[in-house]
Amino acid sequence: MFAFKLILPILIPLKSPRQRLMAKDATHNRRNFVRQLGGLAGMLSLAPGLPAFADEKKFLVPTTAPGEDVTEKEDYWGFIQQAYSVSPNIINLNNGGVSPQPTVVQNALDRYNRLSNEAPTYYMWRSLDEGRESVRMKLADLAGCSPEEIAINRNASEALETIIFGLNLQKGDEVVLTKQDYPNVINAWKQREKREGIVLKFINLDLPIEDNQLIVRKYKEAFTAGTKVVMITHMVNWSGQILPAAQISRAAKKHNPAIQVVIDGAHSFAQLTYKIPDLEGDYFGASLHKWLCSPFGTGMLYIKQARIKDIWPLLAPEDPQSPDIRKFERLGTRSFPAEMAIGHAINFHNTIGDERKQKRLHYLKNYWVEKCLNIPGFSTITSLKPQFSGAIATFAIKGLTPGEVATELFKRARIHTSATVWENISGVRITPHLYTPLKDLDRLVNTIQLIAKENTGAANRNSLK
Ligand SMILES: Cc1ncc(COP(=O)(O)O)c(C=O)c1O
Repeated sequence: MFAFKLILPILIPLKSPRQRLMAKDATHNRRNFVRQLGGLAGMLSLAPGLPAFADEKKFLVPTTAPGEDVTEKEDYWGFIQQAYSVSPNIINLNNGGVSPQPTVVQNALDRYNRLSNEAPTYYMWRSLDEGRESVRMKLADLAGCSPEEIAINRNASEALETIIFGLNLQKGDEVVLTKQDYPNVINAWKQREKREGIVLKFINLDLPIEDNQLIVRKYKEAFTAGTKVVMITHMVNWSGQILPAAQISRAAKKHNPAIQVVIDGAHSFAQLTYKIPDLEGDYFGASLHKWLCSPFGTGMLYIKQARIKDIWPLLAPEDPQSPDIRKFERLGTRSFPAEMAIGHAINFHNTIGDERKQKRLHYLKNYWVEKCLNIPGFSTITSLKPQFSGAIATFAIKGLTPGEVATELFKRARIHTSATVWENISGVRITPHLYTPLKDLDRLVNTIQLIAKENTGAANRNSLK
């Protein structure tokens, strides 16, 4: 339980690190119910040799008992909402595309950027570049693997295409993937098919599927003696379906231990509770600007240690066959400030905790979908069960195209969504985030109801003509 009437002002302007610490201690001693988001670690510079930065503005979150279930405690989430600077004028329900950063992350990015501008090559190459090792360690901790298996890059596309183009494959070698994989991933495989004659074996998933055995069976049916690689999207972006990555990986390795498994974790990383090695893949790519809320243009590549030497980097280092994961970081000049601010996003994520985050996101999704299920003409291709879905859900209204529905949502209620038409998928994708208040989802439900009702009315009038 937490006492909200005593909550301090959310923003604490502090002048120096010492004053901040004193104020923090005083806060703790006087009222032992709040703690500073990000904690002390968030105040320290990640790059050796740099002055320790202090966030000018810290947010407070209520202290909760270990293991306390806060899924439906709106007062707790109200504090998390205040940690973001999202527009009060647009209801952003396309967080699956890119997520906003909490202000502590924006502030960190801003400070690193200002510092870099004092002497770009000095601060970026001598100081911030060294700080990448600290970020690597924090990411490895979050991912449950060795820092020697993590490369920091710009997004999931870059991570996954590094693997797709870096694997040693011969003409005729087969890759098993699905029609519901991400377009950049499919395009990269198709380019190899065109240039080198590898063979793509597509599975078609009829979503939603609430039977993991059925999904594994579909993959197994596509395996042959020529299968060299299996591609798995851990969470399908079109509908939010969670695929049983570990079970598929195990089935592939059982079929032939030499098969290599590539996992697209763009949507599952920092949304679902797991460690990368749990998925039993060889390679994993994720965007950090989605569910981790890191700066835009930050991503991560994981490669199982024994595999690193055999993957050719996209941008060549001195020794492309080195077993050092850092060979994938020869990107040239990139945003060092963005990379450094990843550490602050991890602090923010850890302050909430991944289990709480997953439960809340699933709750938000079910909150609005369950209210819509009895609206005439409404349908969804997303499961409501937590083992098959998280924050994302995709719906349709009979008789309207996804584009028409998305346009109406924005026109009538300033609700920003994503209209999706891809292969066998046609609908509007809704992705709330931790900062989404229930009243915004109520507005979504009411607007869907209105659109569906008017559409049914119009259809009835037309049928009488
Ligand atoms: C499943 C999946 N994989 C990969 C990506 C690519 O992510 P990025 O744009 O960060 O490269 C996305 C982006 O939406 C995605 O949904």
